[in-house]
Amino acid sequence: MASASFRLSLFISMFSVCVLAQNDGSLAVGSTLTAKEASSPWLSPSGDFAFGFLHLQENDMFLLSIWYDKIPDKTVAWYVNPVPRGSSVVLDAQTGLVLRDPGGVTLWRTDGFSGAVNHGFMNDTGNFILKDRNYTWIWESFGFASDTILPLQELVYGSVLNSRQSESNFTRGRFYLRFLDDGNLVLRTNSLPSSGNDTEYYNSHTSDPKNSSDPVYRVIFNSTGSLYMLKKSNQTIQLTPLSVRSASEYYYRAKLDFDGVFTYYSHPRNFTGNSTWTVLWAVPEDICSDLDGVPGGGPCGSNSICSLVDRKPVCECPKGYTLLDPYDKYGSCMPNFNQSCGDVERLSAEDLYDTWVASDLYWPKSDYEEISPSTETGCRKACLEDCLCAVAISRNNSCWKKKLPLSSGRIATNLSSKVFLKYRKSDVALQNPCLQGPKSKDRGTLILVESVFLGSSLLLNILFIGAACFGFQVIYQKRKSNFHLHNEAVETNLRIFSYKELAKATNHFEEELGRGSFGIVLEDRKKLQKFVMIGIWCIQEDPSLRPTMRKVSHMLEGIVEVMVPPCPSPFFSTI
Ligand SMILES: *[C@@H]1O[C@H](CO)[C@@H](O)[C@H](O)[C@H]1NC(C)=O
Ligand SMILES: *[C@@H]1O[C@H](CO)[C@@H](O)[C@H](O)[C@H]1NC(C)=O
Ligand SMILES: *[C@@H]1O[C@H](CO)[C@@H](O)[C@H](O)[C@H]1NC(C)=O
Ligand SMILES: *[C@@H]1O[C@H](CO)[C@@H](O)[C@H](O)[C@H]1NC(C)=O
Ligand SMILES: *[C@@H]1O[C@H](CO)[C@@H](O)[C@H](O)[C@H]1NC(C)=O
Ligand SMILES: *[C@@H]1O[C@H](CO)[C@@H](O)[C@H](O)[C@H]1NC(C)=O
Ligand SMILES: *[C@@H]1O[C@H](CO)[C@@H](O)[C@H](O)[C@H]1NC(C)=O
Ligand SMILES: *[C@@H]1O[C@H](CO)[C@@H](O)[C@H](O)[C@H]1NC(C)=O
Ligand SMILES: *[C@@H]1O[C@H](CO)[C@@H](O)[C@H](O)[C@H]1NC(C)=O
Ligand SMILES: *[C@@H]1O[C@H](CO)[C@@H](O)[C@H](O)[C@H]1NC(C)=O
Ligand SMILES: *[C@@H]1O[C@H](CO)[C@@H](O)[C@H](O)[C@H]1NC(C)=O
Ligand SMILES: *[C@@H]1O[C@H](CO)[C@@H](O)[C@H](O)[C@H]1NC(C)=O
Repeated sequence: MASASFRLSLFISMFSVCVLAQNDGSLAVGSTLTAKEASSPWLSPSGDFAFGFLHLQENDMFLLSIWYDKIPDKTVAWYVNPVPRGSSVVLDAQTGLVLRDPGGVTLWRTDGFSGAVNHGFMNDTGNFILKDRNYTWIWESFGFASDTILPLQELVYGSVLNSRQSESNFTRGRFYLRFLDDGNLVLRTNSLPSSGNDTEYYNSHTSDPKNSSDPVYRVIFNSTGSLYMLKKSNQTIQLTPLSVRSASEYYYRAKLDFDGVFTYYSHPRNFTGNSTWTVLWAVPEDICSDLDGVPGGGPCGSNSICSLVDRKPVCECPKGYTLLDPYDKYGSCMPNFNQSCGDVERLSAEDLYDTWVASDLYWPKSDYEEISPSTETGCRKACLEDCLCAVAISRNNSCWKKKLPLSSGRIATNLSSKVFLKYRKSDVALQNPCLQGPKSKDRGTLILVESVFLGSSLLLNILFIGAACFGFQVIYQKRKSNFHLHNEAVETNLRIFSYKELAKATNHFEEELGRGSFGIVLEDRKKLQKFVMIGIWCIQEDPSLRPTMRKVSHMLEGIVEVMVPPCPSPFFSTI
C-alpha cells in the first residue's frame, strides 16, 4: 500500500552515504542519533534498510524506526512510539539502545538480554542486532515485532503484532495478531480498557487437540518469502501462496494493517518509475463482514459503507452523508440533514422527506422494526412516515427499518433487495422550494436573497426577521378587528416593500460575491437557509401559519427546528 498521502506525511532525511565508517553496518558503543531532520540514519550494508528517526509531519514528532530505504515509499517495518524533536537514541554497553527525550528522560530501552553490548548491527534482512564481544546476538528487533514481520522473522508462542491507529498514526490501534500456545494464529480486536473480552475475527484453526504430540509451534517467514506454520514433525501448513517471484528480485513483508487485515505484500527491489506494494494474500477474507456485531464495528465508522478493493477495505459515505472528519476516510459519516421527531405539524412527511434507492447496500444491524408482509412501496412509505427511520430495506416481501447510527454497512450485490435511504428534501441542495424551479427568474430571486443574508451580519439578519415577523403579527392582530381590507393592502405592500429593499441591497452583495469577497462556506449556507425559511414562514398569507415571536426566537436559537415552509406563491409572483 504505497499511499501517496502517507509518503507525503513523512519527511525522511536521506543523507545516506555520508554515514561515518559504517559501510559494514556495524555500530560502536556510544553511537548516537538525534531526532531532527538532517540526522543520518544507520544503514544496512546493502542500503536496503535504515534505522533512525522518521519525521512525522502531521504533529512534528519523530519515530524511531526501521524502514525500507531504497524505495520511494519509505515503508516502516519496525518502530517505537513517536517522540518529540530533539530526542535521542544512544547505543550503550549496559542497556543497549536507550531512547531519551530532550530533557534526558528515558522513554524506551532494549531489555530482555544479559551481557554487555560490544556493537550494534543493521542487517540487510531488516533486523537490528546487538552483539557481545564474541559476536553472539544478545538482542534483535525481530524478537520485538511492531505490526510487521519480514522474511527470516519467526513467531513463537505468545508473539503479538499490534496494528497502528492509521497508516500515518503509529499509536496502537484496535487490532492485534497473536500466535497462541495451542498453535492457532488469531486476529482480535482490542477491547479497551483491557477487559479480556477481545473479539476474535480470524482463527487459523491449526491447533489439533487430537494429536498433541505434533503441535504447530512456529510461524515461519522463510528467506524466499514464504509464510507458513511449522509442526514439531517438520510438517508445514502453508499460509501464503507459494511464492513464484524470487526473493532476490522482490521484497516481502506481512503486516497487520490498521484496518485489521493481516496482509502479505511484495514490492520489486529493482523498479523503474512508480513502485507500489502488491497485496498477494490477506486474512480475514472479508473484513467488511467479519466484524459484524463487534463493538466498534468494522474498519469503517458509523453510517459508512465498507467494500473490498484488492482484498482491502475501502470506506465511503452513502449518498446524502459526509465524513465527520474530512481527513479521516475510515471515520464516521454524518447525514447532511437533521431528522427530528417533533414539529411536523403542518407538513406531511412526504413534503419533508424523500428517498434515494439503491440495490447493493446492506446493513446487517441497526434494525428496530420488521414489517412483514410489506411491498416495496409500503416499505418506502413506512420509512418516510417514521421519524426514526433512516434506511429501509425491502426484501422477500419484508421491510426492515433501520435507525442511526448505522453500523457495519457494506456493499452486497446478491441480496436482491431494495434499499431506501431517507433524506430531507430541504437539505439536499441549498434551495428554498418557494424560490426554485424551472424559471430562471425564480433562481435569480433565490440568489438575491441568499446574497443579502450572507453579506449582512448575523445580528442584522435576526433584527430583520424579528421585525418582519413582529410587523406581520401586529398587522394580523389589527386586521382581526375590522380594518380588514385596508390592512390587507398594507400588509401586502409591506411584504413587497421588504423584498424590494432586499433586492436593492443584493445588487451590492452580488458584486462583492463576484469579486470573491466572501468565502461562502457550508456553515454560512446552512445559516442562510434557516433565515430564508424563517422569513418565509413569517410572510405566509395565511396568518395562522405564521410562527409566534417566541417560536421565531426558538428557531433562531436552534431550539426548534425550522421546517420547510409552504410557498406563498401569489406573493412571489409579484416580485
Ligand atoms: C544478518 O542476518 C543473517 C540472517 O539472519 C545472518 O546469517 C547474518 O549473520 C547476519 N549478519 C550479521 C553481520 O550479523
Ligand atoms: C566469549 O567466549 C569465551 C570463550 O568461548 C568465553 O570464555 C567468554 O565468556 C565469552 N564472553 C561472553 C561475553 O559471552
Ligand atoms: C493518533 O491517534 C490517537 C488515538 O486516536 C490520537 O490521540 C492522536 O492524537 C493521533 N495522533 C496524531 C498525530 O494524529
Ligand atoms: C465481557 O463479557 C461478558 C460476557 O459476555 C459480559 O458479561 C461482560 O460485561 C463483558 N465485560 C466488558 C467489560 O465488556
Ligand atoms: C499425529 O502426528 C504424527 C506426526 O505427524 C502422525 O504420524 C500421526 O499419525 C498423527 N496422529 C493422528 C491421530 O492424527
Ligand atoms: C520457503 O518455503 C517454501 C514453501 O514453504 C519452499 O518452497 C522454499 O523452498 C522455502 N525456502 C527456503 C529457502 O527454504
Ligand atoms: C526437523 O528439521 C530439523 C532441521 O532440519 C531437524 O533437525 C529435525 O530433526 C527435524 N525433526 C523431525 C522430527 O524430523
Ligand atoms: C536493476 O535494473 C537495472 C536497469 O534495468 C539493471 O542494470 C540492474 O542489473 C538491475 N539490478 C538487479 C539487481 O536486478
Ligand atoms: C506514476 O506516478 C505519477 C504521480 O503519482 C502518476 O502521475 C503516473 O501516472 C504514475 N505512472 C504510472 C505508470 O503508474
Ligand atoms: C443538526 O443539529 C445540530 C444541533 O442542533 C447542529 O449542530 C447541526 O449543524 C445540524 N446539522 C444540520 C446538517 O443541519
Ligand atoms: C422469504 O420469506 C419467506 C416467508 O417469510 C421465507 O419462508 C423464505 O425462506 C424467505 N426467503 C428468503 C430467500 O429469505
Ligand atoms: C452473497 O454472496 C456471498 C459471497 O459471494 C455469499 O457468502 C452469500 O451467502 C450470498 N448471499 C446470498 C443471500 O445469496
